[in-house]
Amino acid sequence: MNLPQRKFKGKFITLEGIDGAGKSTHLSWIAEQLRVHHPEVVMTREPGGTPLGEKLREVLLRQTMHPETETLLMFAARREHLDKVILPALMRGAWVVSDRFSDASFAYQGGGRGLESDKLEILEQWVQQGLQPDLTLLFDVPVAICKQRLSGNARFDRFEGEQEMFFENVRSAYLKRAARYPKRFRVIDATQSIEQVNKQLQHIITSFCL
Ligand code: TYD
Repeated sequence: MNLPQRKFKGKFITLEGIDGAGKSTHLSWIAEQLRVHHPEVVMTREPGGTPLGEKLREVLLRQTMHPETETLLMFAARREHLDKVILPALMRGAWVVSDRFSDASFAYQGGGRGLESDKLEILEQWVQQGLQPDLTLLFDVPVAICKQRLSGNARFDRFEGEQEMFFENVRSAYLKRAARYPKRFRVIDATQSIEQVNKQLQHIITSFCL
């Protein structure tokens, strides 16, 4: 089965960006905008989105592990997420918005941890069978600003606590993906105020929904 050959009635939108870029701030606003155009919008996240995926998320965010173990667990959670949430929703015509998907694996495990991209591509093909988001919103902010935004957090998870160089590599991997797949990526300048970012999003969402 090659997934893109199926005619999905729904659309698949993903949100990406380094920690502190502010995508979570805009999530419910994006859902509201989409609900103007579509009756069913499913909001979900990675790692997570299913009971098993949420258990894997707990482990992934807290437990030290080998980068390949981390990558395999991210894709294991994704396989479950596709099977239980994303594909059924797309098939019944819902629109799915996921807070992160496989571009995060290319950025964090590939760019950040240095995992070879051919290994990631094998897992991507295995798990997604060619399925890609229809639209990916990349919230882009310089690392120093993200670090400043996160500095008020009482407790960092395993990723948020990484060094600046890790995030520089994650950010540049995201921007490379955006340059490689310009049709589905939209890069949002998320250094701006919430209102200005919403304006950028409104423009993108309206033209995508029409
Ligand atoms: P995040 O969306 O940042 O959760 P929160 O906003 O609640 O902190 O996601 C958790 C972390 O998981 C984030 O630091 C990025 C990381 N991650 C990967 O490293 N690889 C992946 O494939 C995914 C989906 C997430």
